[in-house]
Amino acid sequence: MVETIQWTAQGVVMIDQTRLPRVEEYVTCTTYEEVAKAIVTMVIRGAPAIGVAAAMGVALGVKQARPETLDAEFEKICDTLAGTRPTAVNLFWAIDRMKRLYAAVKGQGIEAVRAAMEAEAVKVYEEDIAINKAMGANGAPLVPDGKTVLTHCNAGALATAGYGTALGVIRAAVAAGKKIDVYADETRPFLQGARLTAWELMQDGIPTKLITDNMAGHFLKSGRIGCVIVGADRIARNGDVANKVGTYGVAVLAKENGVPFYVAAPISTLDLTLDSGDQIPIEQRPAKEVTEVFGVPVAPENVEVENPAFDVTPARYVTAIITEKGVARAPYEESLPALAK
Ligand code: MRU
Repeated sequence: MVETIQWTAQGVVMIDQTRLPRVEEYVTCTTYEEVAKAIVTMVIRGAPAIGVAAAMGVALGVKQARPETLDAEFEKICDTLAGTRPTAVNLFWAIDRMKRLYAAVKGQGIEAVRAAMEAEAVKVYEEDIAINKAMGANGAPLVPDGKTVLTHCNAGALATAGYGTALGVIRAAVAAGKKIDVYADETRPFLQGARLTAWELMQDGIPTKLITDNMAGHFLKSGRIGCVIVGADRIARNGDVANKVGTYGVAVLAKENGVPFYVAAPISTLDLTLDSGDQIPIEQRPAKEVTEVFGVPVAPENVEVENPAFDVTPARYVTAIITEKGVARAPYEESLPALAK
């Protein structure tokens, strides 16, 4: 399986997701500022992968910080990484985790602090893969055998440290012997479905068909889709789910057609401080992502554009939320906090 991100002696190595699937190129971030830039420019993307990148970015920053000004530099490193993308809560979860450790070890001398930060970042990475496998095991029984699974965006190995959340459930269902195939929404405007999900599933030999986003309703009505499985960027206490823009429409169409709509996400994607999805900050991305396709203009010059990167699916459309600790169902105000304990 593809290596999304790795901690190495040279720096943080990432596969450049802006160039896939045509070019498989790895970039090495040698400073925390480069890690921050890689998150902003979507060289690395997907909520859990952003969390891992942030943890590694903090560790890299501490490795290079001057011992005399460590406290101030640590704050700047964390602020810079926290300012990259606002919606995926895993980013803030990972930075908070590094902050808590820093507070606990900072009196132990610079070398001990650096070693602790590095070990923690690698732990965040390793835990993420184990979490995804547990999520896969919890979710696989929900996937109907002999049917098609529809997914939106990329919630696979590329969006995590490895294995994936939504695609992890699909991988686990296939490993359990289920005969399923996948319809991948292309996911305008950034095309994570076309460029990343289709590529990743084809590498695994899982039968996959690419569809454009506006075909989802047609296929959901056809009776061949057994379930929808997507990932999440932030889940509020009431079960409202922020995920890649377009997810909401798919969820409504799924309910209308009696197709179960599952969300696969680690506990680190829950934001129990928010009562509802209305409070989730939605990232606005550059207009060029909408007006251009791979640098080629497809819209009138200077046209006004809206480009929210995420939407919020109300909990009433979510059949269940699959986590590494079990499967939550409505009422989510009760089931999510119980799982998160
Ligand atoms: O803008 P992106 O590509 O970072 O958005 C990614 C998604 O919306 C994913 O579905 C989500 O992060 C879950 S990834 C396991």
